[in-house]
Parts: sequence; structure tokens; C-alpha cells
Amino acid sequence: MGIHFGADYNPEQWPEEVWEADLRLMKQAHVTLVTAGIFSWARAEPRPGAYDFDWFDRVMDGLGGAGVRVCLATMTASPPPWLTRAHPEVLPQGPDGQRRWPGGRQHYCPSSPVYREHAVRLVKRLAARYAGHPALALWHVGNEYGCHTRQCYCDVSAADFRDWLRARYGSVERLNDAWSTAFWSQAYTDFEEVLPPRTAPTFPNPAQQLDYLRFSDDALRRCYLAERDVLARLSPSVPVTTNLMPFHKPVDAFAWSRDMDMMALDFYQDPFDPGTHLTAAYTFDLMRSARGGQPWLLLEQAPGAVNWRSRNGPKPPGAMRLWSWQAVAQGADAVLYFQWRQSRGGAEKFHSAVVPHAGTDTRIFREVSELGRELASVPEIAGTRVARPTAALVTDWDSWRALELDSHPSTALRLPELALGHYRPLFEAGVACDVVPPDRDLSGYRLVVVPNLYLLTERAAERLTAYVRGGGHLLVSFFSGVVDACDRVHPGGCPGPLRSLLGLRVEEFWPLDEGATVGVRGVAAVRRPGGPGRAEAAAGAWELPSGTADLWSEAILLEGAEPVARFADGELAGSPAVTRHGYGTGTVTYVGTRLEPALMRALMDGVRAAAGVRPVLAGLPEGVQATVREGDGGRFLFLLNHGARAADITLPCPMADALAGARGERSEHTYRIALPARGVAVLKDPRRAVSASG
Ligand code: GAL
Ligand code: ZN
Repeated sequence: MGIHFGADYNPEQWPEEVWEADLRLMKQAHVTLVTAGIFSWARAEPRPGAYDFDWFDRVMDGLGGAGVRVCLATMTASPPPWLTRAHPEVLPQGPDGQRRWPGGRQHYCPSSPVYREHAVRLVKRLAARYAGHPALALWHVGNEYGCHTRQCYCDVSAADFRDWLRARYGSVERLNDAWSTAFWSQAYTDFEEVLPPRTAPTFPNPAQQLDYLRFSDDALRRCYLAERDVLARLSPSVPVTTNLMPFHKPVDAFAWSRDMDMMALDFYQDPFDPGTHLTAAYTFDLMRSARGGQPWLLLEQAPGAVNWRSRNGPKPPGAMRLWSWQAVAQGADAVLYFQWRQSRGGAEKFHSAVVPHAGTDTRIFREVSELGRELASVPEIAGTRVARPTAALVTDWDSWRALELDSHPSTALRLPELALGHYRPLFEAGVACDVVPPDRDLSGYRLVVVPNLYLLTERAAERLTAYVRGGGHLLVSFFSGVVDACDRVHPGGCPGPLRSLLGLRVEEFWPLDEGATVGVRGVAAVRRPGGPGRAEAAAGAWELPSGTADLWSEAILLEGAEPVARFADGELAGSPAVTRHGYGTGTVTYVGTRLEPALMRALMDGVRAAAGVRPVLAGLPEGVQATVREGDGGRFLFLLNHGARAADITLPCPMADALAGARGERSEHTYRIALPARGVAVLKDPRRAVSASG
């Protein structure tokens, strides 16, 4: 079957003559899968209940005839004008009470029964018509849920929210308790008094805000599920997915993953951002981990520039190939673009496409076609899985949402940035990493990193505690364990239920001003002459050098933990900044500030070495990413040079190039390869392949 390769295909934008050329060019570009129909509602149902699928039959048949499979969209992402004219109540409202008008897309209230009814009716027709179509490979529900309409604050949503709250709390007394409504005279006597957190004179109730984020995610998911259930009933053998977005706070990817047959992601690298591959790496790891290592789909990326940033850099030669292979290296079984043919009109006419305005005698078309050929040459990679990482990084949507609420000690704490600050040192050290929610079984990992887990339930705390007691190595950073699920501060304050595990308590938060830094001094580890031996290293006796930190500090009181570093200056000079605590048979490290990247790297290196977490390949040049995928198809080593310079890599084992053109020097025991900047090598470990087939 191979790695799927293709694009969003929007034939309704073009006269039918163009479709024939499309099919021919798809063959030339080695396209195997297209996502079709995403924005076809107005064409497929031009008047209420009057369907026109004949043209789409020709699209499906044409694609099928050309050997291209279809990821068929349910067409519900952008309601047609007749729907919002007949039912203006479908339109979403902002927190200020302002309607969002049609004219763009995704202009529907997620709680609207009218929207859902029309959407479901359309999906029933689609499923009935195409369930048995030979070209159909999978279903694509909606499109990027919550991309534009994340929350709706209309009266329909308000009523839906009240039902959601009734189900969650049962009584208004419990709601009052959960929302701490004794504060500011907010006590409710009836659910009917409750509203969405609309724009208020000052900070709306934080627990209400948090519940609204949870509710709005559920409302979006119910839209997805309403369609998914139709498909599951009428087309049970075809997998169902929807395309998620990276670092997308409205949609909890872990919660959604339970209702998706395959994880699917849209990722738009920013060529102007030197760290774009890092954000991608984190997101790709999350996609893979969400369903336990199952291959996932990169459903959208740009072949070149996008049109929606303020300045849109094209992908320089080789970048698109590199970043596509990165997705595969991190477990993707599909690489698709938005979109196949560049629009002539509309809001995305300056968004790159596989077939650009300038035609096919273009760099983009050539690069895409070449990648298509390359991917098609290694079909056996599909279905293999990334070798199971021994490190994991915890990400929790609930805590993320709560962390970024207003009226906090510092509003500069942003989870994406903080999480990447913890992910980066692992990535740079070449360590493979899963990204998991806190309720996942952690026992298989040697190291678990928990960035800024502000909201922490007793249950999650028990899990983390049990993990360390059983020998795990845990790293937790500041402003963790602060509140419970209702955004109420844990008794005794931070770190709440982690207090005995961490062996400390936090007496006072001391956020730093913008641009301010504070010195951090490593406390020399107690060790025998001659440096720490193996046993000590294993016991976690690593040292931290000195440097600076920013963003945050806090007054830590030790209750069993030992200091690894202290603040060197400022108001907290001399008090602990980083601590370590042996607990059960494991060790937990706590970081009470944001260490500068080099220091964070040193810290992470120490912790992971003590945990016995090794890089995929030792001694790789800076900027080179290495991953392993293995399975029935063999064992593949991916080398990706994200750096600006060519990298000379010698592997301690003979390898076979899986891609033509990678050409390394092979000896009996080594394999040496010069990887240019943006270079990619896919190597097959012949030993493993032999044992796999023998
Ligand atoms: C995605 C969306 C596509 C297209 C693309 C442009 O958000 O799903 O339909 O708009 O962005 O980058
Ligand atoms: Zn609404």
C-alpha cells in the first residue's frame, strides 16, 4: 500500500475540462490519495434538500479510474448561504454578543441543532451514495474543528451549556461550590441564571471560563460524533478521521483520539521560524502517542508558502522534502498538501499549491513529484512504528486551559512555549519522546517530564507519585500542582498533592518582570574523589553548572529534597531554584524557574542520563534528527539534517540506503554518510530485515 501521498482536491473550483488534466498530473506526481469535498456543500446541496451529486460521482469515478484513493470529506465545514439565510440562529456569536456573519467559513454555532440536523442529513446522503465506492479510503469529518469558531456565546450555546452543567454538577449548590461563587456575589439560585462567560466589566469567573472551554470542546466533538455515528452505521468498514491542528487549545487531541480511527494533523511549517521543525517534532510525537504509536496522517501541509501569516515565506529548496520526511520519520503514513491546484480567486489564491498558477514547469511541482516518487519507492515503511521511546513528556489540555486564564501571578506563562522549552533539550539530545496525557500508564517510561502542570487532580498526582515510587525518574517544573479541577488552590498551596513527592513546598510565587533575569548557581554534588561513579550517576548524582533564568522564580522551602541549584542573586538569592528528591525507588527533580536553554539542556542531560534514557544515536552532529521505525517492513533509520551545515555521520553498523541518491560509504562494520543541509537519508538495517523476513 505504501505511504499515502496527495492533496486536498477541490474540483468544484474548476471547470470539468481541468479535471482530466488533474488526473494526468496526479499520476505524474505519484499521488495516491486526495481529500475531496471539504467545501462542497453549496454545490452538493444547492437548495435545501435538493442534492446534486452527479458531478461528484464523476470526480470519484475519475479518481478511482486513475488509481487515486479518496479521503472523502463530509462537506459540512462551511454551511451554504441558504442555510444561514433561512436560519440565522445558526450563526455564531462572540463573547461580546456580536454575530459572526457568513462570508468566510466555519460560521456555525457548534451547539446549533439546526446546523447539526442539516449536516447529518447531508452526511447520510453522502454515506449512502459513496460507502461502497471503490475509491473511498477513509472519511474526513468536518474540517479543522474550532479553527475559526472556537467558542460560541449565543443563547443556543448558553442553553446547551446549562444542560452540560446540570449533567456535570447535578445541583446548583454543587455548581456554586465548584465555581467558588461566594466570591464577588456570584451565587446562583437556579441553573437558568447561568450564562457563558460573556464579556464582563472585569475578569469573568475563572472556573466558569474553564468549564466553558471544556463545554465548547465537547460541543465541537458532538458535531464530529453526530457525523461519525452516521458514517459508522452506513459505512462501517471505512475508517473515520478529522484533521486536527497543532497546539490547538479548543480541541483536546487526546480526548478526541478515542473517537478517531486514525489521528490526522494539519501542520504548516513557518520557513521564517528557525525552530519550526521543533514545534513540528513535538506535535508529530503527540499525534503518534495519542493512539499508542499507531501511524498517523499528515493531512495538510503547504508545498510552499501559506497566505495567512503576516509575511509568508516560501519553503526554500529541499525544505518541503525535509519536513515531509520528518513527519514520516515520526510515524506518519500519509503526506498530503493543501491544496492540489492553486485557486484563481478567493481568500487562498496566494497559498501555494501542488499545481501553482505558474504551471507544472515549476520548482514546487518538481519537488512534489520527486518526493512522490521517493515515497513510492519505499512502500514497506508504511505500517511500521516508531521504536518505543523511553521518555515521555506530559501535556494536559485541562491544565493548559487553566494555566492561561487571566488574573494569574503572570500572564506570560504560555503552555506551547513552556512545553517546547522542555521538549527542546530532549530533541537536541536526540532522545525519542512520547507526548502523553497525565492519565496514561507511565510505567513503561524511564523518564517522564511534566512541564508546568498548574491544574492537577488528586488522581493524576497519585499516578505521578506511584510512577516515582516504582523507580521512575520524574522532572516537574514550576507552577505545578497549584489548583484542582475547579481551579481552586489546593490546601496548603503549591505544589498541593505533589508536596511529599517533591519533598518541598512553595511559600511564595515570585514571577519576574519582562526581560528580567536571575542568576542560578549549581550546588556541587556530593561525590567521591574521582567524580561520580556509575552507581552515583544511576542514583541521580549529576551536577548543574551556573547560568541564568527568567520568567519565574519562587520561594521554595525544602522538606526532604536537596538543592541542585540556588538562586544566585535577586530577592531569592540563596534559596533553592532546582531540587532533587529520592522517593521510593525513583527520583524527582523540580525546577522552580525557567532555566536558560543551555542550563535546561544540562539539567535534562543529567536527569535523562541518570534515568538511563539514551539518544537514538550517540554523537550526532548538531541539527541532525534521528528516528527509528520498525515492523514487518523492516527496520528503518531516518536521518534528517535540520542544521545549516552539511553533517558527516558515521554509524556503527552497516546500512543500506533505502532511497536512491543517499549514497553513503559502507564497510563491514560502519556506514558513513555526508548529509547536506536539509538532507534526508532513510537507511535500512539489513540485519533486522533478514531476521524479520527469515
Ligand atoms: C487549513 C485549512 C485548509 C486551508 C489551509 C491553508 O487551516 O484546513 O482548508 O485553509 O489551512 O493553509
Ligand atoms: Zn452558539
